[in-house]
Amino acid sequence: MSIGTNIATAASWLHRGKLVAMPTETVYGLAGNALQEDSLSEIFRVKERPSFDPLILHLAKAEDAEPYVMQLPPAFTTLYNAFCPGPLTFVLPKSALVPELLTAGHPTVALRFPRHPVAQELLRSLPFPLAAPSANKFGRVSPTTAAHVAEQLGGAIPYILDGGSCEVGLESTIIDLSTPRVTILRLGGIALEHIEATLGERVARVAHSSSNPKAPGMLTAHYSPSIPLLFGKFEENLKRVDRQRTGTITFCRKAAGVPLSQQRILSPKGDLGEAAARLFAALRSFSNQNIEVILACEFPEEGLGRAINDRLRRAAQPLNRA
Ligand code: TXA
Ligand code: MG
Repeated sequence: MSIGTNIATAASWLHRGKLVAMPTETVYGLAGNALQEDSLSEIFRVKERPSFDPLILHLAKAEDAEPYVMQLPPAFTTLYNAFCPGPLTFVLPKSALVPELLTAGHPTVALRFPRHPVAQELLRSLPFPLAAPSANKFGRVSPTTAAHVAEQLGGAIPYILDGGSCEVGLESTIIDLSTPRVTILRLGGIALEHIEATLGERVARVAHSSSNPKAPGMLTAHYSPSIPLLFGKFEENLKRVDRQRTGTITFCRKAAGVPLSQQRILSPKGDLGEAAARLFAALRSFSNQNIEVILACEFPEEGLGRAINDRLRRAAQPLNRA
């Protein structure tokens, strides 16, 4: 495995059916040829992802989407013009060109147009779209740097394309346009309020579930850090733990009595975008310290704060693995 910034090298591995890690503005993706069954199987194998959990199809621009969907509804055009390329994923009825393996047998396909310049250049240089789940093992925290990818997948892929730290730091918002009622399936890099303001209507939200969710990957337990995490009731929990052996994740305030080296204050100036960008690195950062529990505060339930709370709530659930 090597890490580098050579887009042509990444493209040549992809042409040969191999996988590479690709930077996007949200998180790093584990990318492969979306139209080739072998590449798709390899993604599921490397990620240890169950085959019932569909992948997102990545494209450079709206015009590239036409072959893969039945039609592009007006809401797609409105949202695309407002937010794309960017951290928004659209679920639409799929065409016959999209492999069943990619959509896990669903009649819909998820489309995303990443705005990271390296992802854009890579996609534009290829004659096929890319399937790319987040480049972590299934159920773990998504990577926001090339080094994070190397930690979990380094031995399994030939090349990591380094595009620096991800600017948004949370996965894309997923919006389902395949049903009569527009529905948010995953909170993410585009705030719910901005989507509603752009569409001029309220959108529905799907609650996360631990079984049979609408989007199979949206299981409650996800994003597990390697140390137990308690979310919310921050001050109360702080009184109950051994503060010398506690890590904290807070928005802008310090946690009394916890050594500063064990505190991750995500945005001292109180900016939810900055906090979002730092969240996943913070979740990973405790593993080499003598810490037995992580306490995370609740963030304001507005804008990107909703998605931050969603990820922390799920990180707090122990992952049941077979
Ligand atoms: O920001 C992102 O979206 C990142 C970057 C790499 O683009 N990708 C990402 O992929 O987060 P992944 O595979 O980790 O999460 C994709 C989610 C899964 O929960 C999956 O179940 C859902 O998208 N999904 C994919 N296709 C779907 C479909 N047809 N209907 C409903 N949900 C779908
Ligand atoms: Mg993921």
